[in-house]
Amino acid sequence: MTRIVIRIGGSVIASPVNIDLMNKYVQLIKQIKIQGHEIAVILGGGTLAREFINIAKNLNLEPTAQDRIAISVSRLYAQLFMEKLGDLGCGKVATTLDEAAECFSQKKVVVMGGLKPGHTTDTVGALVAERLNADLLVKGTNQDGVYTKDPRKFSDAVKLDKLTFDDLTHVLEHSEHKVGIHQIIDHMAIDILKRNHLKLIVFNGFKPENLLLAADGQNIGTVIR
Ligand code: UTP
Repeated sequence: MTRIVIRIGGSVIASPVNIDLMNKYVQLIKQIKIQGHEIAVILGGGTLAREFINIAKNLNLEPTAQDRIAISVSRLYAQLFMEKLGDLGCGKVATTLDEAAECFSQKKVVVMGGLKPGHTTDTVGALVAERLNADLLVKGTNQDGVYTKDPRKFSDAVKLDKLTFDDLTHVLEHSEHKVGIHQIIDHMAIDILKRNHLKLIVFNGFKPENLLLAADGQNIGTVIR
């Protein structure tokens, strides 16, 4: 039995919304749960969240308000997932770490979107992993894993199979939280994972069947610990 926090990037299932992929994730999560693993799923808000962030910006709303708007969008996607999971879920999207822990203690699948302004859903994934004492955080992104440099810009970028959290911090550009920022995984999340000695797997979220391999203890994408 593995305790897994599955963080699915909005850039994967919600940019644009990919119904087939969402259905696949729900089926796989059911399968992994039936195999006896304990699961929390954290969803981001994708392009719709960014559209709402822009509307909020144009209305001259401050960054924390923009973040709150994006959080609401991520929770809508989380609710879709929760509804599709049926009895396996808690029937309600968790909006605090206490609610996540309560749902988890009932042996249900925890589903969450954003938590609070100032960070991304990667940090929510790391905080949930810390709180639930998880073994593993997996993040489905739009790349095969972590590369030496951005593979969309550099053809000589090389995929890394394994690295430490310190290596990862060096590979990723250091950046402060900005509303709507896109990163493979954010720095706050890395710090939380590192201090809790948690394992992180970054994999291609467009190949969700990789989740089964990760739950089985196999190394896919890039493994960071
Ligand atoms: P994410 O950047 O986590 O969404 O949150 P995503 O679509 O999954 O992104 P990718 O696929 O990893 O790139 C979107 C925005 O929501 C706000 C932030 O503004 C963030 O940039 N947010 C999210 C919060 O303010 N707090 C949260 O806890 C989560």
